[in-house]
Amino acid sequence: MIKKALFPAAGYGTRFLPATKSVPKEMLPIVNKPLIHYGIKECMNAGIFEIGFVTGRSKRAIEDYLDHNPELEFQIEGSSKEKLLEEVNEMIDKCTFTYVRQKKMLGLGHAVLTGEPLIGDNPFAVVLADDLCEGDILSQMVKLYKKYKCSIVAIEEVPKNEVNKYGVIKGKEIDNGVFMVEDMVEKPEVNKAPSNLAIIGRYILTPDIFDLLKETKPGKGGEIQLTDALLKQAKDGMVIAYKFKGKRFDCGSVDGFIKATNYFYEKDFKGK
Ligand code: G1P
Repeated sequence: MIKKALFPAAGYGTRFLPATKSVPKEMLPIVNKPLIHYGIKECMNAGIFEIGFVTGRSKRAIEDYLDHNPELEFQIEGSSKEKLLEEVNEMIDKCTFTYVRQKKMLGLGHAVLTGEPLIGDNPFAVVLADDLCEGDILSQMVKLYKKYKCSIVAIEEVPKNEVNKYGVIKGKEIDNGVFMVEDMVEKPEVNKAPSNLAIIGRYILTPDIFDLLKETKPGKGGEIQLTDALLKQAKDGMVIAYKFKGKRFDCGSVDGFIKATNYFYEKDFKGK
């Protein structure tokens, strides 16, 4: 039922300058695979093969990654290196990738709205590739969507002093790990947060979000916030929050990036 995903990928990634001067932050590798690779794999595992990117200037490396490179493929044909391209080639062959540029950086809500032509009138997933997830969180959310048919945000308990980095929800637990959202605030002050349940970068959104985003005024940081548009759906009882099963690395921060690198090195490389 969820066939499309949107990857907002227009941000500057200033925390990783100077690398992100010319390499999109979504292309920074965790060991040998760029962040988007992990996000796309997660989509495919959830049965999603139509993937849209909201990009910006200097993001062309994303398109090149998601296309064949015949010269390189010819060079390594028949060698042991060939298998290193297997997974990405499978993505290229099985998925369609579409792109639209966000011309001004007006926030995550604005980025999602920019993706409307790629999504149309369909429920869709949103993947923030710098939240690197293990455990097929999207598959879990797609299953939940079949039951609840409303927008879903993935949440995680975070230390109280870190709530100001996230969208934070208040909700009533209606099933194991499933909350009916009553309130949500973008990056609240630590002592004003409604809980320590933080939204992480996986969403399923119903397409009425686009009209709501069009009416959403700039919020926190002067940006058009997805959280604010979602709150309007929540007021109609149409948003649930899901405490996912799995792991998540905040690869938008240097700390999280290093933790993810060590984790995937141990898991996929060490001793092999
Ligand atoms: C965005 C959202 C925020 C969410 C976070 C998850 O913030 O606005 O609600 O908690 O992603 O990573 P950003 O990290 O882009 O500032």
